[in-house]
Amino acid sequence: MSKLLVITAHPGAREYSKSQQVAEAFLNSYQATNPSAQITHVDLFNLDAPDVDATVYSAFGHLMGGGAFSKLSAEQQSALSKRQAIIDQFIAHDKYVFVAPMWEFSFPAVLKKYLDIICAARQTFQYNEFGLPMGLLKNKKAVFIQASGGNYTPEARAGFRSILAAAPQAESLLPVFEVLGNYGEPIVRATLAIMGILDYQHIMVHSQAMPDYAPLVLDSALIQAQQIATTW
Ligand SMILES: Cc1cc2nc3c(=O)[nH]c(=O)nc-3n(C[C@H](O)[C@H](O)[C@H](O)COP(=O)(O)O)c2cc1C
Repeated sequence: MSKLLVITAHPGAREYSKSQQVAEAFLNSYQATNPSAQITHVDLFNLDAPDVDATVYSAFGHLMGGGAFSKLSAEQQSALSKRQAIIDQFIAHDKYVFVAPMWEFSFPAVLKKYLDIICAARQTFQYNEFGLPMGLLKNKKAVFIQASGGNYTPEARAGFRSILAAAPQAESLLPVFEVLGNYGEPIVRATLAIMGILDYQHIMVHSQAMPDYAPLVLDSALIQAQQIATTW
């Protein structure tokens, strides 16, 4: 029986969220073809996930220096235990669906915090003799469903670039355009790869701020999600 963890970084209702609508289509198809699958949801906006603040940072230093867990303060023990429970839950699953909107060319900060927690040295990855991270998670797979207002695909960017280049304000517009992009997806992909999860697919529900294209892109993302889910 496969164990699927759905990790959602969205504070809003599904009714207004394209990433969550595509995730729902994915999960419905997945459940239809895998009726015995165990599906667990993690709502990152309501997850008690302690930050690496001064308390946690000093606890890391203590443990790395060979100090005992029992010698940490109650506050440090509690924070580390909560973080460990998140890591344990992640390791205990074998398939992952990440769901997030694009916010400021990336994703909500709660997702970065989650990725930082699960990317745990000696638990989900370790450094080899060359100092490179090597994944410790085997035979796992992930899908990242992301929705954005704009379109950052290479094809769209090439089109926008040529339109902007011909505009009278090209000199001031192009430098800004060139730094825009989807900086979130590579972080999700890299974090998963570091942990050994290379079976990875990205479903991008782009152009949702463009009324002429949004419904078409959403429809095609829904179909893509259903297709991936039936053989995943
Ligand atoms: C706080 C915030 C920041 C956003 N930043 C971006 C952005 O940098 N680039 C972009 O293309 N769209 C941006 N958007 C638009 C959303 O990505 C878009 O509405 C998308 O559909 C959100 O996913 P959802 O439909 O699942 O909520 C932003 C929206 C919000 C609310």
